[in-house]
Amino acid sequence: MIVTAPRIRVERHLGPAQLTRALHDDVTAGLTASPKTLPPKWFYDERGSQLFEEITRLPEYYPTRTERAMLLDVAPAVALRTGADTLVEIGSGTSEKTRLLLAALSAEGTLRRFVPFDVDEATLLAAGQAVAAEHPGIEVTAVVGDFEHHVPLLPRTGRRLLVFLGSTIGNLEPPARAAFLRAVAGSLATGDAFLLGTDLVKDVGRLQAAYDDAAGVTAAFNRNVLEVINRSLDADFEAQAFDHVAYWDAQREWIEMRLRSTRAQTVELRELGLEVAFAAGEDLRTEVSAKFRAERLAVELADAGLRLLQWWTDPAGDFGLSLSTPA
Ligand SMILES: C[S@@+](CC[C@H](N)C(=O)[O-])C[C@H]1O[C@@H](n2cnc3c(N)ncnc32)[C@H](O)[C@@H]1O
Repeated sequence: MIVTAPRIRVERHLGPAQLTRALHDDVTAGLTASPKTLPPKWFYDERGSQLFEEITRLPEYYPTRTERAMLLDVAPAVALRTGADTLVEIGSGTSEKTRLLLAALSAEGTLRRFVPFDVDEATLLAAGQAVAAEHPGIEVTAVVGDFEHHVPLLPRTGRRLLVFLGSTIGNLEPPARAAFLRAVAGSLATGDAFLLGTDLVKDVGRLQAAYDDAAGVTAAFNRNVLEVINRSLDADFEAQAFDHVAYWDAQREWIEMRLRSTRAQTVELRELGLEVAFAAGEDLRTEVSAKFRAERLAVELADAGLRLLQWWTDPAGDFGLSLSTPA
């Protein structure tokens, strides 16, 4: 039997040259700042995306399971309410949970188009091909880009449902989050809708365990950013010389993932002509993951120009899904 891969369209807003320039800029700025930081998007090379998939199956990592169970429940209502023919997924990864929304739109008879959008091209294309095979007859346009810059450039065809799952929005700090939500609101036409998944504030022990699992998968995911930098920037980070730390900032209500230098050390990044000294115990912040409260999120959506149509939580109140339209 000959099996041919279904054809999908690909739009690239980030080619190899732009990715390299963005990595150079982010690493130079982040490693020369005090305290040192790196933006989380550089976790996601092919191995980083695989490790994230493993995280989603860990017993401690409740968000994916909870959001999937909620989508199973609410996807038909979302399909009915939006009547969308085009599903645009921001930060799509493997688009695994999104299958529930695609199935609901298909059952409603409206589904025509799927537009997954991610910075990791390999995972994006694999997911796009898989969805095209599962839904023959729909158009699939995979968009390679950065959701902090390219939301306005997403295809505008059809009656669109934009979805942003996994509480990935929590990785944006408040000013960047406000800018992102404004970009989403600005890109929605009358009749379009925005479905957003948000992890909610809860018991600190459970939150910390979700970012510091017993099997050490999250630690491997965190250290993977050092491997990405070593490979891309001819650097000599010794990943095992950094401990994985999940820190709850009670005031900002976010988890910070950090890499803590186990000793005084100097790292050379030959591609950047940069040497970076770490003191023993010094932290490099690699991710924030903000946790939300319903009231505050409603204000943020309204401030961005979005009108909240519906809000769902799971019975335990762990996770929230919101459906909005342009105000
Ligand atoms: C936490 S994972 C969530 C994946 C999936 N949506 C889910 O709910 O399981 C974040 C995804 O967003 C992508 N991503 C992270 N930063 C990005 C950025 N700035 N622009 C585009 N995609 C980004 C990653 O490659 C990854 O696939």
